[in-house]
Amino acid sequence: MSPGDRCLDALAALSARGVAGPFDLACILGSGLGAAADAVRDAVAVEYADIPHFPRAGVAGHGGRLVAGTMSGRRVLLLQGRAHYYEAGDPAAMRVPVATVAALGASALLVTNAAGSTRPETRPGTFVLLSDHISWSGLNPLIGEAGDGRFVAMSDAYDPALRSRFAAAARAAGIGLPEGVYMWFSGPSFETPAEIRAARLLGADLVGMSTVPEVILARFFGLRVAALSLVTNLGSGMSAAALSHGQTTAVAADAAPTLVRLLGRYLSEPPVG
Ligand code: HPA
Repeated sequence: MSPGDRCLDALAALSARGVAGPFDLACILGSGLGAAADAVRDAVAVEYADIPHFPRAGVAGHGGRLVAGTMSGRRVLLLQGRAHYYEAGDPAAMRVPVATVAALGASALLVTNAAGSTRPETRPGTFVLLSDHISWSGLNPLIGEAGDGRFVAMSDAYDPALRSRFAAAARAAGIGLPEGVYMWFSGPSFETPAEIRAARLLGADLVGMSTVPEVILARFFGLRVAALSLVTNLGSGMSAAALSHGQTTAVAADAAPTLVRLLGRYLSEPPVG
């Protein structure tokens, strides 16, 4: 079955459950941030297990549900949970969900994640708006794709107009939102202290195990993209504490209400043209 047919299957299942576009914003909720979906009103929730070709979310803190509804009176589509490259070795693991978001007519996709910070001053609990990324894994979800469409331009992948609008929403909501560059490591092991020093030297402010393949796919499908990292820890070797997934999900759960406030403020402004 072709990737396009897989997306059509997913769309048919969603349509049968009353999920239809367009949406003002779609959002992939990263580790521990899934609780943000509780703020959606008039919610229609569909388990990934009931959507053909959607991944089975297999990581603690990742819900595995699609939630459509409204926030601040605007139509939103939240994806609670993602599949990561490290789960099955497929960099295109999120291809069908991202293609489905595009086909449903979302004006923009916000990708969120939990990340480590390479900067001591960017403390756990801080949200960072991505300005760019470095794909350190060497992988790409478009490998094997045919046609010239695969040569996706990645300058301004993190849409400048959306970034300005998120920055303005954060200011209005009194939420600090620095910008930063995210470096993708495949995981699932955390980085070594030497890798964190190298990442910082190469221009990365954040390190994490997701987002980059989804952003590449989203640009391939023509979506406008913004991305937010929640810093859940300082990078490996930067603090005495050993890194753990439990710490990631705990810090993220505490930050989910801040994300809801930011989204609420973002959505209450008129859309970017
Ligand atoms: N490294 C990679 N991924 C992460 C981290 C980290 O330090 N924290 C949360 N996700």
